Formats: sequence, C-alpha cells, structure tokens
Amino acid sequence: MAGKAVKFGFVGLGSRGRLMMKKVIRIPGTKLVGFCDLNQECVDLAVKAAEELGVKPKVYENYDAMLNDPAIDAVVIATSWSAHISLACKAMEAGKAVAMEVGPAMSLQECFKLVEVQERTGAKFMFLENTCYNRDVLLVMNMIKDGLFGEIVHAAGCYQHCVTDIVYKEYDAFNRGVPGNERIVNRMKRNMEPYPTHDIGPIAKALNINRGNRFISLTAMSSKAVGLNSYVEKQYGKEKAGEFKPLAQGDVVTTMIKCAGGETVLLTWNTALPAPASKGFKFHGTNGVYHDELKSVHIDGMTPTDPKAPTAKQWEGLDKYAKKYKHPGWVWFDRNKYMEKYSINPRAHGDADYLILMAFADCIREGYDMPIDVYDAATWIAISVLVEESLALGGQPVFFPDFSNGGWLRRAPLNIDKRWNCGI
Ligand SMILES: NC(=O)c1ccc[n+]([C@@H]2O[C@H](COP(=O)([O-])OP(=O)(O)OC[C@H]3O[C@@H](n4cnc5c(N)ncnc54)[C@H](O)[C@@H]3O)[C@@H](O)[C@H]2O)c1
Repeated sequence: MAGKAVKFGFVGLGSRGRLMMKKVIRIPGTKLVGFCDLNQECVDLAVKAAEELGVKPKVYENYDAMLNDPAIDAVVIATSWSAHISLACKAMEAGKAVAMEVGPAMSLQECFKLVEVQERTGAKFMFLENTCYNRDVLLVMNMIKDGLFGEIVHAAGCYQHCVTDIVYKEYDAFNRGVPGNERIVNRMKRNMEPYPTHDIGPIAKALNINRGNRFISLTAMSSKAVGLNSYVEKQYGKEKAGEFKPLAQGDVVTTMIKCAGGETVLLTWNTALPAPASKGFKFHGTNGVYHDELKSVHIDGMTPTDPKAPTAKQWEGLDKYAKKYKHPGWVWFDRNKYMEKYSINPRAHGDADYLILMAFADCIREGYDMPIDVYDAATWIAISVLVEESLALGGQPVFFPDFSNGGWLRRAPLNIDKRWNCGI
C-alpha cells in the first residue's frame, strides 16, 4: 500500500457514511479531506467523529463545492438511494474517482446513464458491494474457481434481515419531514426488489456475469404485505398499527433469473418478517454444493461417505477447506494484523468494509481495473426495476438489458492485484 495517499471526500453522512468515513481515516494509503450532507445534524456528528480520530475535515457548503476542490481524488457516495447515480455522474464529470454505496435503481434509464458517463469520462468507478469481500464468500469463490463444485448450474441467495424497527423509525421520521428515509418512501409506493446487490453480487461474480456470461431474463413474485403492521401491533399496540398506512411493498419477494450460459439464479428478499439475518448463498455444480446457512459443502470424491448409506450425499463443514482456499486479500489482511489494529469485530461485516475500501484506493493508486465496475453496478441494481416490471405484469418474464452493449462477449480478464479480485 505504498505510494501517494488517495484523498477522499464523502457525500452522505448518515450512519453508513460516517462508519465508512471513520474507516478511511484509519486505513493506510487513504486520507479524509472533507465532506458534505444536506442534513446539518449529520454533518455535526461526522465532524465530531473525525475529530475524535484526530482529523479536522473540511465541511463543504454543498456537493458542487466539494467537487470543485482539487484536493479531492475520490468521492464516496453514501446518500439515500435516489441521489446515488446523479451524484456519481457529477463526480465522474468532474474527474473524480467514485465509490458508490449499494441500493436499488430508480429506473433503467439511470443505469444506462451511469454506464454512458463512465465510458465517456473514463473515470474510475467502484460499486461498494461489500458482501463480495466477505471472508466466506471469497473462500467459496476460490473453491468455485478451482473447480471443486464442477460447472455451476444454479445459485441462490437472499437478503433476509429483519429491519422492522428501523423501518418503523424511518416512517415516524418521514412523517416529521426529516430528509432521507427513502427506504420507507419506497416501501410505501413501490413493489420491487429493494436490496438485490448483497446476494446477486457474489452470485454474478461466480457466474462471470458481464465477462463471458450475462443475465437474459427475469421473473418475480411478491407476497402480501403484513409484516410491518404485525410488528407495530406487537410492539406498540393495535391503535398504532392502525396509523401505519398499507404498503405497496410485499414482505417476501422471490426473483428468478436465467443466464446466457444456461444457469439459473434464485433471490429472496425478506426484511419484514422475524427471521435471523442470512445471505443464504447456495452454489450447485456438477460436482457438489455449498450451503451458506449450514456453513457446509458436499463435494463428490472429497466429502466422506456414510458406510451405511454409501450412495447418499453427505454434508461436511466448510472449515476443512478454509486454510487451503483462503483468499489472498484475507491472507494479506490477517498477516498485517488489521483485525487487531482496528479492533474489528469479526462477527459484523466491518472487516469486509475495510478490505473493499483498501481495494478501491489501491486500484486508483496502481491504475488497476476496478473489481466491481460500472457494468456490475448497473446490472445488479437494475434488478430492482426489472422485478418491479415483472410484478406489475403479474410475474411475467422480462428481458434483462445488456449494459455492456455486447461487451460481455469479449471483455478481457481484469488487470488487477489478486488481493482485490472478488471474482473467479
Ligand atoms: N453496504 C452496506 O453494508 C450498507 C449498510 C448500510 C447502508 N448502506 C447504504 O448506504 C447508503 C446510506 O445509508 P444510511 O443508512 O446511512 O442512510 P441515511 O438515510 O441514514 O443517510 C443518508 C444521508 O444522505 C444525505 N443525503 C441524501 N441526499 C443527499 C444529497 N443529494 N446530497 C447530500 N446529502 C444527501 C441525507 O441527508 C442523510 O444524512 C444507502 O445507499 C444504503 O443502502 C450500505
């Protein structure tokens, strides 16, 4: 990580922006220059957090002022969803590198615009899909790359994360006119796939989407919407539940995607029903399977058989493969003792946030390709809108646009340090 420090500006200082900003202050090879937000309360909290870490940030009056500052090399966009793409395009037009947080797309047009602006300006663009840097995800990615599961035929994932308490607080804040709170605004008005990227990200990387493969069609179904009302009733009583207006967003959204390579993908979104958090990854291949919730695999020829049922397929723990298939990024991270240096809680996804920010900064510094680029971002976030379309049509299949404009057929492998490559 030697060389010039990459100088960062942040836009969007809610809980996510402030968390990522603190990481940028801590890691080697990056420097926080300053930030902006529409909400003064969030700016004040961010100044306090930066000062506690010994940094005096510039506070810009607005986003344009930040983009006009030649001291800034790279912009992290951690605003509410609907602002992501216009802010990203503005930054690329201003010659800045961009790291954009996750969320759903608002329209297909904005996905095409993101690609067009990046191609025209040549600016560095990275999508901050941190699940792609999760330790187990990268371990399994290495196993896929090494062919342990054979040819991948089907993949599944989910965003199961019960956030009823957060959503209800947002509803209350929205009713008081606090800016942001887009999660609830979307749930009130749209029925879609609100958060497809944490699960589709690693799946798309495993299936080489946009580099030799692509998504060709999608179909979706959505359940009724009763989870949030049920939560409010349990938590605050029947009267309060009555105040809560019916939502457009179904509680469970199931999406199926077909790939040009013949693979199928199953995604499930579920954030309003009580259930433990899970990404629920499954990769099925011609030689075996990975099951995330069981933290287990079956691999023909490697997983021990039960002598009493020699033809039955058995599970075995993923741990057995952890050392041999540990990803180079994590080998390097642990060798540098970053978990201890930054007091990272191994149970939260905080360590993946560090690795993805380090990857972004190093790819800028060394001129590497970005590991999660503009085609990945457009493809993954577009799922929200395509699901919305399929649901509006009663679950009809819809055509999946090719944001690479045929590039997926002939794109070269990534030019990148192996520590940062989150694909196969
Ligand atoms: N990758 C992850 O694990 C992860 C986790 C949490 C959140 N996120 C993503 O991070 C983003 C932010 O999430 P959050 O929970 O902090 O949201 P939030 O609503 O709490 O904060 C967003 C902030 O952006 C500001 N903002 C909105 N539009 C703006 C604009 N045009 N210019 C300047 N500031 C603007 C708001 O005032 C607010 O302070 C979202 O896209 C969310 O999906 C990612």
